[in-house]
Amino acid sequence: MQAFSFASTAQILCEAGSSARLAELCRERGASRVLIVSDPGITRFGLLDGALPGFARAGVTVEVFDQVIADPPEAIVLNAVERARLLEAELVIGFGGGSSMDVAKLVALLAHPNCAQTLKDIYGVGNARGQRLPLLQVPTTAGTGSEVTPIAIVTTGETSKLGVVSPLLLPDLAVLDADLTLGLPPAVTAATGIDAMVHAIEAYTSKLKKNPLSDLLAREALRLLAANLHEAVHNGSNREARQAMLLGALLAGQAFANAPVAAVHALAYPLGGHFHIPHGLSNALVLPHVLRFNAPAAAPLYAELAPLLLGERFKGGSIEQCCAELINELAALNERCGLPSRLRDAGVPQDMLPRMASDAMLQQRLLVNNPREVSEADALAIYQAAY
Ligand SMILES: NC(=O)c1ccc[n+]([C@@H]2O[C@H](COP(=O)([O-])OP(=O)(O)OC[C@H]3O[C@@H](n4cnc5c(N)ncnc54)[C@H](O)[C@@H]3O)[C@@H](O)[C@H]2O)c1
Ligand SMILES: [Fe+2]
Repeated sequence: MQAFSFASTAQILCEAGSSARLAELCRERGASRVLIVSDPGITRFGLLDGALPGFARAGVTVEVFDQVIADPPEAIVLNAVERARLLEAELVIGFGGGSSMDVAKLVALLAHPNCAQTLKDIYGVGNARGQRLPLLQVPTTAGTGSEVTPIAIVTTGETSKLGVVSPLLLPDLAVLDADLTLGLPPAVTAATGIDAMVHAIEAYTSKLKKNPLSDLLAREALRLLAANLHEAVHNGSNREARQAMLLGALLAGQAFANAPVAAVHALAYPLGGHFHIPHGLSNALVLPHVLRFNAPAAAPLYAELAPLLLGERFKGGSIEQCCAELINELAALNERCGLPSRLRDAGVPQDMLPRMASDAMLQQRLLVNNPREVSEADALAIYQAAY
């Protein structure tokens, strides 16, 4: 067996309604001043209303920083860090989608009283040092898996993003509360759910760090996500389906945190960078086309995943037939979920495809994990197929 290492968030609480107990969970960790990092949509929808009253009862001072925006830029991270320092926060809670959770991770690190590093010092893999504040994550989308990954993604320029990857960013506790996701709009449910599916698929075919634990998690993640996506999108108030989606996204996060994602994500990033297409939709738009490109190298693994994606509708047959079943099913997902299927329908101008292909090549951190090598010409051909 190939050697591997595996790390994840230490504790997971998977229970509808559990975010009402956040204050207790902070108290148990000895914290008396807590910063919640969130976005304006979360406060507007009243998603914190169930959690906040408990803080006063528990005698824990709490402040909410709700200025995170999607694909958070550096300035937002620095503002949140400043807020945590002023509060002398002893614990940080990320409460929201991947954007809020990613900012919370960086705040926990950079607002620690002994921190001597700046945000610019820690971009890249393994550059963060020292300690961080205790960190709890409460996802309100079932997608990024950020609650169990050692990664935070920051927008650094007009069109560029950088990642901070460090074991220090792995949170202490993930709280999965389906009640928070009952009102997630269908389009966001679909895009974030497909993002989680991509995490599972890319972890399962990850070239360098594929490992038996990630495989196990990726398979169960894909089964759960596929079985519940349709219900979560079309009948959002189904609590069971919502809890299953949260767990599926978490398991996919555990898988790809240890067997990293690859070309689907590499080709998705320029879509977010240039056109502000949400992360999940960017992935959904290129997914079937990257998998068709990868098939010559990954067909046996895709064939293994096909029955998990299709469930009772799986027909089976040769490796090529099973692989085609998987890809065709994924290609039909966008339309079934009410998302655009083609780049042209998502507002991407055709003359930008060469620029996007050249930008995708910058994502070597991800491309090295792809089962098949991707050249710039290949990336352009994939974008053209997706157009
Ligand atoms: N750290 C990681 O491992 C990792 C992995 C993948 C993506 N990411 C990053 O995560 C970000 C994307 O995260 P995301 O897709 O979760 O979206 P998001 O956090 O950007 O949120 C998108 C929108 O959904 C709204 N929303 C969230 N929860 C809601 C709810 N329950 N009800 C109603 N509205 C709700 C928010 O207010 C926001 O407007 C990107 O910055 C991406 O780069 C990080
Ligand atoms: Fe993703």
